[in-house]
Amino acid sequence: MMTASSVLQSALDPAGPQAARISHLWWLMFWATTAVFIVVMAFLGWAIVRGVRLRSREHEESGTLLKGNTTRERALMRGVAVAVGATIAILFVLLVASVSTGRAVGSLGASSAVSIVVTGHQWWWQVEYEDQIPSQRVKTANEIHIPIGRPVVLKVTSTDVIHSFWVPNLHGKRDLIPGYTTAIWIQADRPGVYRGQCAEFCGYQHAHMAFYVTAETDDEFQRWLAAERQPSATPTGDLERHGRDVFLASTCAQCHAIRGTIAGATLGPELTHVASRGTIGAGTLPNSRGHLAGWVVDSQSIKPGNRMPPNGIGGDDLQALLAYLETLK
Ligand code: CUA
Repeated sequence: MMTASSVLQSALDPAGPQAARISHLWWLMFWATTAVFIVVMAFLGWAIVRGVRLRSREHEESGTLLKGNTTRERALMRGVAVAVGATIAILFVLLVASVSTGRAVGSLGASSAVSIVVTGHQWWWQVEYEDQIPSQRVKTANEIHIPIGRPVVLKVTSTDVIHSFWVPNLHGKRDLIPGYTTAIWIQADRPGVYRGQCAEFCGYQHAHMAFYVTAETDDEFQRWLAAERQPSATPTGDLERHGRDVFLASTCAQCHAIRGTIAGATLGPELTHVASRGTIGAGTLPNSRGHLAGWVVDSQSIKPGNRMPPNGIGGDDLQALLAYLETLK
């Protein structure tokens, strides 16, 4: 399960081939610019010390020292030419490295790739696993499961404003443009939970637009996918059954879908297997009963500006609703 210490979010700890290329480029740029900085500072220090000495000598020799010294001028011009040449060479090397990294991370291009459509919303992520057979498609939110060692193509888009999809351990940033779909290829080479976040300011709750990528073995992934394809669990207890009725009779059903019931709205995240997710509110809170209660009653006090209105449900109805939501594993 997700705990703060087991979740990774670092571009310098690559878990896949593209992130590895990006981190190589990062280190090349880091060491190149560090070397340039050290050399420039060394020359600056040398120039300051020399300037102070020359000025004091000039003072003694009444200002004639620097005039007409062509040998010194020629040496100076040579130095400037060498520095310009070195600058052009360094920039050229960085340009070539940057372009070749960009090309390398562009595509993994395998036909066996898992294909996932990721849609940005203010402020959450809709995740849909594509399949030739429509009934096998799976919709979830804010959590992406991928098998390790296999390329995954993410088709990213947005329905409202520009967002940016970023899982630093797996890839660089990619903008989600309304009305336009872009493909990103990712691959995880080791299992883990990698945190991602929106990397383009997209409104009030931009900072509360996180998600998690769980990379697991192919067996685990297939098990997860098979479970997600199932319709929601039918409640067995009286309390849970009452909770389902509360859900279907209240405003909940106007925005959310729970497959296996008549709730089929698509305005908010699909809740068919909401209890199997680690967080609510796109990584805002852990998915516990208490947090869920607070969210259902007044999510505006937790994540102001989100599209879920405060809810009048209280007392026994609320407890029943929470009990029902907890069965949606
Ligand atoms: Cu979505 Cu920032």
